[in-house]
Amino acid sequence: MPEILPVAWQSDAPLPAASLDALQRAVDVLRGGGLVAIPTETVYGLAAVAIDPDAVARIFTAKGRPSSNPLIVHVADADAAEPLVAAWPETAAQAATRHWPGPLTMVLPASTVVPAVVRAGGPTVAVRCPAHPITANLLRLLGQPLAAPSANRSGMISPTTAAHVAASLGEAVDLILDGGTCDCGIESTVLDLSVSPPRILRPGPIDRSTLELSLSCPVEGPGSDANVAGRSPGLLPRHYAPRATLHVLHDGQQFVRERLEQGERVGWITRGKLANTGSTTFASKRLQHINLPNDPAGYAHALYATLHRLDDAGADAIVVEAPPSGDAWQAVTDRLTRASKRD
Ligand code: TXA
Ligand code: MG
Repeated sequence: MPEILPVAWQSDAPLPAASLDALQRAVDVLRGGGLVAIPTETVYGLAAVAIDPDAVARIFTAKGRPSSNPLIVHVADADAAEPLVAAWPETAAQAATRHWPGPLTMVLPASTVVPAVVRAGGPTVAVRCPAHPITANLLRLLGQPLAAPSANRSGMISPTTAAHVAASLGEAVDLILDGGTCDCGIESTVLDLSVSPPRILRPGPIDRSTLELSLSCPVEGPGSDANVAGRSPGLLPRHYAPRATLHVLHDGQQFVRERLEQGERVGWITRGKLANTGSTTFASKRLQHINLPNDPAGYAHALYATLHRLDDAGADAIVVEAPPSGDAWQAVTDRLTRASKRD
């Protein structure tokens, strides 16, 4: 088991001494070239000092991540992002003022400060200023940016608790800072500002209409996989996948019944209402029915934890009620669609 240190905070109060000790320990591990799992408001990240290419290379090994997939660099504030980029357009300044700290990642032309391994050899760098108070404090204490992908084995569901990180990465991570359950529960919005008009590469907690208002300009939505895969190599069709097969259906009752009759263990995720599970088939011990909130933020917050739980319970199939259409549900729809793709 990796070392796991609990960290606690209260808004508007200094960090408790035990948390400060944990952050100092994390700084020591990072300065020594080690890997630390950090809580963020989206999902847990697997962090290394971004300007230490050897440490960053260890992230790729720990995750089993292809070296062609670049990493997000996390910064304490916009001032700390500027040395990493070759240009800081007005749109970036506006987006940072409006959404940082928060779940928005901006792709910009990289400066020479960013090692090639972080960029996967490309000309751009992705930067984000996370809002989680523990990681915000860690970045200030460390005084250096942190490269951090989600803290899971490549292609698997992102972790929203420290326990998820430990289960996925084991001793490949040197230290886990346990800052509780992540607020958003899905990964940040990735916005490409190196192109005009700006383009969303990965939908996330901040949706397209919100970005258009903040930037006062049109923002292109995520295109087809064929378009986006070239620009954001992590966005392969199959990603964020549980071990069970996942099926997104408008009305899953019949499908759930058939799977149960075939002797499978089934997880059934509905939204905002209790499905009609009154019949004897649905009383099966092999069925776990979970009803998630009917708002995009509440749903996203619980989604990965629910998939982890159903996987851990040994579900053969997970049936998910299809989300509504529209910008606000786009990130959830994107993750479910990727999770349902088979190799
Ligand atoms: O919420 C998040 O973004 C979390 C937390 C830890 O910050 N991080 C995260 O990282 O989800 P990761 O590596 O799992 O996903 C980053 C995504 C990938 O799809 C990657 O291809 C894309 O961002 N990306 C990173 N650098 C890029 C770049 N220079 N150009 C285009 N896409 C990039
Ligand atoms: Mg990831």
